[in-house]
Amino acid sequence: MDFSYNIQYVTETASTNDLAKTLAKQNAPHGTVIIADSQHKGRGKGQSEWFSPSGVNIYMSVIFRPEPDFPCTLINVISSLSLVYAIKDTCNLTVWPKWPNDIYCCGKKLGGILSESSSAGSLVTYIVTGIGLNVNTKEFPYSLKDTATSIFLETGKLFDRGQIVESLLKHFAAFYDKLKFEKQTLIKTWELLSKTINSTVSVSTDAGAICGKALGINDNGFLIVEKPEGSKVLLISGDITHAVNC
Ligand code: BTN
Repeated sequence: MDFSYNIQYVTETASTNDLAKTLAKQNAPHGTVIIADSQHKGRGKGQSEWFSPSGVNIYMSVIFRPEPDFPCTLINVISSLSLVYAIKDTCNLTVWPKWPNDIYCCGKKLGGILSESSSAGSLVTYIVTGIGLNVNTKEFPYSLKDTATSIFLETGKLFDRGQIVESLLKHFAAFYDKLKFEKQTLIKTWELLSKTINSTVSVSTDAGAICGKALGINDNGFLIVEKPEGSKVLLISGDITHAVNC
């Protein structure tokens, strides 16, 4: 499916994901992009809030209407690859994807991805992929200051958000098209960039913590973890901590 973006800018909204989902329900087409200057109810995974001050960062959501055979569970893989490449291209900063949906730099979180989908029977009718990227934030609230970072804090420079978005969408379109025919190449690229792979990780899941060596991701983007006694488990999602003693 060819990509042509239709970008809609809003000054403020509760959450670009919520706005995009409302538009998707009203039949907004594949490739609709919502970008907000600020959010007053920005959401992260679980019940977490996403820090969304005005005028400094990127808050955007993309509506996808995948074809029936599209590998929807890999949308976060191509989203994180697009972010890594766009940040390198426009800010010359090396960052890495942390499974399942984070972008990290120097041990701190720089960005996050929140994909939400709607289905009719076994068909996915739309996916809304929300991206939050800390670009020019100079200071984080006390509760985030030890765990979050921004491109400004890592480079000492302010960046044009429009240029990063342009590069991000360019990479997104290319990866989206590749996903159908070059899935394994994209998975390998993600594995090579991610410090999650080959790390000892502890993953908190609904069923409790699982500890072991992250071997890779499978065709669905699920994390393959080898436990100390040699058995392997597949994880669909979860909060992971790197380099722990099992
Ligand atoms: C996470 O790491 O927990 C995911 C964060 C996703 C944040 C973005 S900001 C744009 C979009 N709108 C939201 O409310 N959330 C996502």
